[in-house]
Amino acid sequence: MKMSVSSTSPAEAKADALVCAIVEKPKVLAKPLAALDRALEGMIAAALRSGELTGERNKTVTFHTGGRLPAAKVICVGLGPAEKATLEHLRQAAASAAKTARDQAAKTVALVSDTFRVARTKPGDVVGALAEGTLLSQYRFDRFKKEKGNKKSLTEATLLVPAAELRAARAAASRAQIVCEGVAGARDLINLPGNEIWPETLARAAQEVARAGGLKCEVLHGKALETNKLAGVLAVGAGSTHTPRFIILEYHPSRSTQKPIVIVGKGVTFDSGGLSLKTGHNMDDMKCDMSGAAAVIHTMAVVAQIKPKFPVIALVPAVENMPSGTASRPGDIIRYASGQTAEIANTDAEGRVILADALLWAKRYEPAAVIDLATLTGACVVALGEHATGLFCTDRGLAGRITEAGAATFERVWELPLWEEYEPQIESDVADVKNVGGRPAGPVTAALFLKKFAEGYPWAHLDIAGTAYIEKERAYVPKNATGVGVRLLAHLITNWKPRPTKRSPRARR
Ligand code: BES
Ligand code: MN
Ligand code: ZN
Repeated sequence: MKMSVSSTSPAEAKADALVCAIVEKPKVLAKPLAALDRALEGMIAAALRSGELTGERNKTVTFHTGGRLPAAKVICVGLGPAEKATLEHLRQAAASAAKTARDQAAKTVALVSDTFRVARTKPGDVVGALAEGTLLSQYRFDRFKKEKGNKKSLTEATLLVPAAELRAARAAASRAQIVCEGVAGARDLINLPGNEIWPETLARAAQEVARAGGLKCEVLHGKALETNKLAGVLAVGAGSTHTPRFIILEYHPSRSTQKPIVIVGKGVTFDSGGLSLKTGHNMDDMKCDMSGAAAVIHTMAVVAQIKPKFPVIALVPAVENMPSGTASRPGDIIRYASGQTAEIANTDAEGRVILADALLWAKRYEPAAVIDLATLTGACVVALGEHATGLFCTDRGLAGRITEAGAATFERVWELPLWEEYEPQIESDVADVKNVGGRPAGPVTAALFLKKFAEGYPWAHLDIAGTAYIEKERAYVPKNATGVGVRLLAHLITNWKPRPTKRSPRARR
């Protein structure tokens, strides 16, 4: 879909549907809406009086203009109570209206941004939210269907803004387009089935992102995994005929002396549990176990275009967790590059085992922060459901920035503790640490395992098990893959204020 910005007045805009927002139970019609109502000879006011149009959140009412305006229809979408409206409600309202327009066979829509203006928002923020809601709502995954379920699709969306706001609006819309492409790219990778995406094809997807964005990409496999002592990746990948990979994507601005941000994504292309095999229903959606990887790979596509002034590195340990005669056994002990040993008491707790390699690897960059994203524990789904990502963090400043990014993007996070009192649960009789900590506080003991390897830099872990792949569609998030993490990381990186360093942050290898 093409997205553009224009200062054409709503009364002159040509589109299949003109989209306007209306707050709940307005005393009088807001100015931009009143002007359209006059052109429509009172249709909107009449619908309000009759009770058809209420302004209820995300509810749409369609008016056929019958030639009274150049636009064929006006779609009014509810924002809910005016005093409660936030940018998130704008995203949702734009998405709801765009889906209604598409389902009514519209090809082109124009959004009257003035009608969406709520208190305490900058013009660019409003346009950004409208663009995001519109773009994200049109996502579909139907490449494996001969009969496409809903062939209708929007081809063009125009954001109508006052002439004075054109510049800010253009910047916000183009940023939204870049970020939403990243989200769609991540959703596609996650929705692809386990017989299409395995470590090698995940690496190819990363190489494609690197090629398109002019990034450096290195993929380690076979012997290189051994010489680099990537013991976790080797152990978890041992059971599959689809051999493991360790993927490194690097963005370096020219002449930067800043410390990099390192983002790490769990890349288990399918999680059968390994020899600690999952049972029936628990295995159903385990193609989603590379959602962290998909998010960081496509965040790099965004980074390549928004070009921050500091380096950004993505690390993806990629494996398929399968049972076989060559698979790791419960009770196996592995030795990491740091010399630390781990007992693999349960082969289904594989995410932490491979992430440890990446967290150790990250140290060589002397990073300003390391953030990992992982569909790590079913217990996090139990604790927080589909509406919050679990956050664990060793640095108060970083936790604050991530929480802020989560709120701004509505990819909200909720912090859980890393208290040392939980540590005895992952003590091993035979190794330095054990990869499971029993039923109590599952997300916490998983994070504490990671913490043992995340030494020497500020670190955050995001458990996206509940938020990466969902059962119930939302206004601009389809069911199945959500692409969670891309918008949050893009916001965090955009607003990151780096501190200069003396030494070059490039890897010493
Ligand atoms: N990939 C799963 C976690 C998961 C569960 C993600 C549900 C998304 C939805 C992870 O590898 C796993 O199997 N974790 C185990 C850990 C346990 C063995 C300590 C779990 O949560 O049961
Ligand atoms: Mn598992
Ligand atoms: Zn897993």
